[in-house]
Amino acid sequence: MERTLFVIKPDGVQRRLIGQIVARVEKAGLAITALRMMSMSRDMAARHYEAHKDKPFYEGLLDYVTSGPVVAMVCEGAGAVNDLRALIGATDPAKAGAGTIRGDFGVDVTHNLVHASDSPESASREIALFFPD
Ligand code: RTP
Ligand code: MG
Repeated sequence: MERTLFVIKPDGVQRRLIGQIVARVEKAGLAITALRMMSMSRDMAARHYEAHKDKPFYEGLLDYVTSGPVVAMVCEGAGAVNDLRALIGATDPAKAGAGTIRGDFGVDVTHNLVHASDSPESASREIALFFPD
């Protein structure tokens, strides 16, 4: 079994899409084994996205993910990391395929609704950050 971190970002919560997004994850055969709603502090957001700290969009990204509550969950299944990345679609919703979460609901490259870990190593680090217990 592989684990990955999935986050519904503030726009997904504000737009009342939690239910529809979680339904897609469950329908894809992934098991949700931990789930919490929380507000990310700026420090936590900076740690989560530390790989992007030199990018031009970094400060705006931190503003966005700290703009309201998020829903974080651990998803498990064989190939969970890749399966969830396929389910969410490309970073830019304009390039994400129909039937993907970002393709169907995302607005633009910043407001792309969801996060999913991009490797098993990222997943371990991110799960420890969101679920320290
Ligand atoms: P995420 O980490 O949120 O799952 O997204 P991702 O792997 O598909 O994309 P990544 O390259 O890790 O980028 C992280 C987040 O930064 C914002 N972004 N903005 N303005 C831009 O060009 C730009 N590029 C990325 C997005 O919110 C993206 O999800
Ligand atoms: Mg990423």
